[in-house]
Amino acid sequence: MKVLVIGAGNMGLTYAEGMVKSTLLGEKNLKIYDTDPEKILSLKEVSHFDVYDKLEDCLPEADLVFIAVKPYHSDELFAEMKPMINESQIFISLMAGVTIESIQERLGAAKVVRTMPNLPAQVGKGVTSYTESEKVSRVELLAIRNLLDTTGESIHVDTEKFIDASTGISGSGPAYVFYFMNSMLEAAKKMGFSDHDSKVLVSNTFEGAVELFNRNDLSPQTWMNRVASKGGTTRAALDSMDDNNVKDLIKEAAYAAFNRAVELGEK
Ligand SMILES: NC(=O)c1ccc[n+]([C@@H]2O[C@H](COP(=O)([O-])OP(=O)(O)OC[C@H]3O[C@@H](n4cnc5c(N)ncnc54)[C@H](OP(=O)(O)O)[C@@H]3O)[C@@H](O)[C@H]2O)c1
Repeated sequence: MKVLVIGAGNMGLTYAEGMVKSTLLGEKNLKIYDTDPEKILSLKEVSHFDVYDKLEDCLPEADLVFIAVKPYHSDELFAEMKPMINESQIFISLMAGVTIESIQERLGAAKVVRTMPNLPAQVGKGVTSYTESEKVSRVELLAIRNLLDTTGESIHVDTEKFIDASTGISGSGPAYVFYFMNSMLEAAKKMGFSDHDSKVLVSNTFEGAVELFNRNDLSPQTWMNRVASKGGTTRAALDSMDDNNVKDLIKEAAYAAFNRAVELGEK
């Protein structure tokens, strides 16, 4: 199985690194293509996979093609790819808000898998949701899932609506967590902690809470009740959040990302 990754940016390189480190692909079976001459040069110096600056040298022989460019670059890219592709190739899009139908139309391809990755894939803790066009077989989908899993976990969804929905939860979600972290860091510094100590306090609090959550079947509400006692400090904080409607505001934010993903797909 020969894999080509188009776009050596954050996501393209993350997936390339994940795939090449796994036992699923040999080094020679993974190629990367990008148009930025400086990026190509530096990748050729440091990376362990083949880097290309011409599509005709890498696209025709690929079985699976990961598309990891920004959506606004896709028109130009697809126009160049179109004359070089064949019907057995499968195109796996990492692009937010770009529908399978739009890829099929512009590329003239039948087999398309649409994914929604997220940034923790960089540390092997990503979550990728994915769905496919009709012509992709179960066997092909299994091979693709195994490749996606090299950056963390993946979940199969039945419709593209859930790709847009997962954009609102996991795709954009790391930024919500950083937002929360940022607020806690600001509070810690305001209380007088040094930058270093603030970071230790906040990052361990997040890491520890996630670990507790993952080790048990208890709901977040149960964990909140375990930390908070009546009339105590945590209750004061949780009451303050409830009074300010923080829960609904977070849900609203997730829906804003979901709706924006739908909107981008309609354009
Ligand atoms: N970053 C995230 O957290 C995240 C999360 C979910 C989904 N995604 C999706 O992942 C995709 C990639 O995002 P990213 O953050 O990795 O973007 P990025 O860092 O900008 O990487 C894209 C790369 O593709 C290159 N490129 C542009 N046009 C090209 C072309 N015609 N042929 C080949 N390469 C081309 C870019 O070069 P230049 O720099 O010269 O333009 C850049 O090196 C996006 O569609 C995004 O929606 C990203």
